[in-house]
Amino acid sequence: MTVTTAATGRRICTPLPVLGRDVLVPLVTGGTVPYAALDYAASAPALQRVWDDIAAYAPYYGSVHRGAGYLSQLSTDLFEQSRDTVADFLGCRDGDQVIFTRSTTDSLNLLAAVVPAGTHVFVFETEHHASLLPWRTRDDVRVTVLSAPRTPEQAVAVLDVALHGAAKGPKLVCVTGASNVTGELWPVRELAAAAHRHGARIVLDAAQLAPHHPVDVAALDVDWVAFSGHKLYAPFGSGVLAGRADWLREAEPYLAGGGASRKVARRADGGVDVEWHTTAARHEAGSPNVIGVYAIASACKALTEAGFGELVDREQQLLARLRAGLAEVPEVRVLSLFGDDAPRVGVLSFVVSGWNSSHFAAALSAEYGIGVRDGLFCAHPLVRTLLGGESDDPGECGAPEAAPGERSLNAIRVSFGAGTPEEHIDRFLTAVRTLVREGARWSYRTEDGRCVPDRG
Ligand SMILES: Cc1ncc(COP(=O)(O)O)c(C=O)c1O
Repeated sequence: MTVTTAATGRRICTPLPVLGRDVLVPLVTGGTVPYAALDYAASAPALQRVWDDIAAYAPYYGSVHRGAGYLSQLSTDLFEQSRDTVADFLGCRDGDQVIFTRSTTDSLNLLAAVVPAGTHVFVFETEHHASLLPWRTRDDVRVTVLSAPRTPEQAVAVLDVALHGAAKGPKLVCVTGASNVTGELWPVRELAAAAHRHGARIVLDAAQLAPHHPVDVAALDVDWVAFSGHKLYAPFGSGVLAGRADWLREAEPYLAGGGASRKVARRADGGVDVEWHTTAARHEAGSPNVIGVYAIASACKALTEAGFGELVDREQQLLARLRAGLAEVPEVRVLSLFGDDAPRVGVLSFVVSGWNSSHFAAALSAEYGIGVRDGLFCAHPLVRTLLGGESDDPGECGAPEAAPGERSLNAIRVSFGAGTPEEHIDRFLTAVRTLVREGARWSYRTEDGRCVPDRG
């Protein structure tokens, strides 16, 4: 698992095998190169182990909770065992429920649907839209959006003051574990303590934390946690909401239908009476995505068995290499809310003076075969704050329309993880240096809001 690299002399573990590591992509300047996937924060490649597990199971695929046949029973067992695997991976407490959803967005919308009427939700403006927006779908829920803090301590203090002034009644804090823009870690344990001090509950958006860092629900003392399979090396359409059962059990099902209902009977007056499940099934109506769920469980096992601690160390070494390399390019400004010393995961956003970010990202792809992301990363308020409050008219999750050379109202994000070889970081740094020093070798134009190579 560990090797010593000639370049650094340090012991550094090898990347976990992922799909796509040998894919060749065309360069606009001619020829092909192996694709460098540096956009893990959007969607990470599937772990080879996940793919192998799914392939081994696929012939045995059957319906879940709705079949008497052998394969249906096997699939049902696999589905329910996956729930236990995820509960172990997250360090869930006795009585916590693990509900399978489609994604983090779906999980947080589910939670928003079940919070009691009159709940007061507190959320920082720095959140991903998936954490910032779901609460607005409820007319009977009040939302307080807290301003961006500039230190983790300030985040706790701001929340403390806001909760102190809040009226009696159910309260919920929603916070990210790791920013999808800066990669910076939020003081989750301290925020949970502040929430509980004031009788509030807290949900952790672990979309960017879970793939990079062990998450322990009990140790962090969060009430719920949400994450997505596709960011955790299991891109088969499933997500998770795990945590306290009471609000989930007491609310109407998120989706009404088969699987959520225990008993349905016709009433004498012609209507229909329903008795809903009180287990996780209450919010899992419809035929479950057993492939997606098994993929998540497989990824959880793979990360645990590989040694999550070692993976974290390795990622931190790559991150240090990336940050040191970028620090040598004066034109590059790395975006940060909490400052240079803040702990962070392998997610980093930056702008390059003199460059439009979309242009820079397009050139990295077209001329170097490197896949990063440009835009406002579905965290518009945060990116605007970090860029200095400039505003424009971006498309949802995307970049404002801008031609090459126009000023940047968006940023470039590079992100990586357990499958990233050192070589991809080095190639990225070389490409950044060359682009800054020599400019793009190709010309680009804007098409449908995206910067693309001009092919004449
Ligand atoms: C911090 C954070 N929360 C939530 C989400 C939403 O995840 P999904 O698109 O899988 O629902 C993302 C996606 O980028 C994210 O980075």
